[in-house]
Amino acid sequence: MAELVASVKICCLIGDPVEHSLSPLIHNAAYKALGINYSYITLQVKDIERAIETIRAQGIRGASVTTPHKVDVLKYLDRLDPPAEAIGAVNTIVNDNGILTGYNTDGDAALKALEEVTDLGGKKVVLVGSGGAALAIAAALKENNVNLIILNRTEAKARQLAKRVNAEDYGGLERLSLVASADILINATTVGMAPGTRETIVPQEFLHDRLTVFDIVYNPRETRLLREAKERGCAVVYGYKMLLYQAAQQFELFTGHPTPLEVMESTLTKALGGG
Ligand SMILES: NC(=O)c1ccc[n+]([C@@H]2O[C@H](COP(=O)([O-])OP(=O)(O)OC[C@H]3O[C@@H](n4cnc5c(N)ncnc54)[C@H](OP(=O)(O)O)[C@@H]3O)[C@@H](O)[C@H]2O)c1
Repeated sequence: MAELVASVKICCLIGDPVEHSLSPLIHNAAYKALGINYSYITLQVKDIERAIETIRAQGIRGASVTTPHKVDVLKYLDRLDPPAEAIGAVNTIVNDNGILTGYNTDGDAALKALEEVTDLGGKKVVLVGSGGAALAIAAALKENNVNLIILNRTEAKARQLAKRVNAEDYGGLERLSLVASADILINATTVGMAPGTRETIVPQEFLHDRLTVFDIVYNPRETRLLREAKERGCAVVYGYKMLLYQAAQQFELFTGHPTPLEVMESTLTKALGGG
């Protein structure tokens, strides 16, 4: 029995809070579908240094990292992949015999979700928000030859982010009318997220039928912004797709197996009430 337990590879989510996360559900469903001996648990972590020591000492195979530790965790890791290094934030840790490597899969996942619906090259993109997720997305977008405008409630943060990623323009939310001449709109703020589901960051009058609207908020699955975008004839990209693709990339880093994407996606959409 002891051997059986020892042979299970453990992966975890570290953050605070973690209790509402869908990660255990989707990772464990994928392990089960492939019949591999892994288990994914959540650890509510206040002291990140101790959590990293535990991951190393206990041979925990991998960790997803969420708020508020994505930046602080960097100094306890041995190696970083180029996106994590460029962004200065980590959302994934892989433990190879005590050597901990940090990755950031958020930007790639966002781009993958977006590129299912639209090309990026030469497009005018309005990115609303300047927090952690916006940073990962902005950096990934700028690798793809887009014309990037960053808008944020706190304009100083938009300016800082624009400077950091070399965006073409930035401003406060009073410049949201720029959406009317954009090809792609991305909401990377928390606006519209449950319980504030009646809120939207962009007035519907600025949405038009040549626009692709990507809302990275995934709870609810269809936010007010996406609902109103559909009404105006926009193509839409759901935030859950980004969550799915970053989880899929983590799964492959943790296990070395190709992700059973359909299993993960159906588990996720069922949990979000999306059928
Ligand atoms: N789909 C996915 O896989 C995925 C991945 C990561 C995050 N997310 C979601 O993305 C959202 C942002 O996450 P984050 O980690 O970047 O958060 P964060 O670092 O806390 O940044 C929050 C952003 O939202 C803005 N904001 C908050 N309340 C606002 C309001 N009332 N009006 C206008 N702007 C407001 C903030 O503006 P200020 O700078 O002015 O405060 C800031 O730009 C969350 O809903 C999160 O769940 C989704």
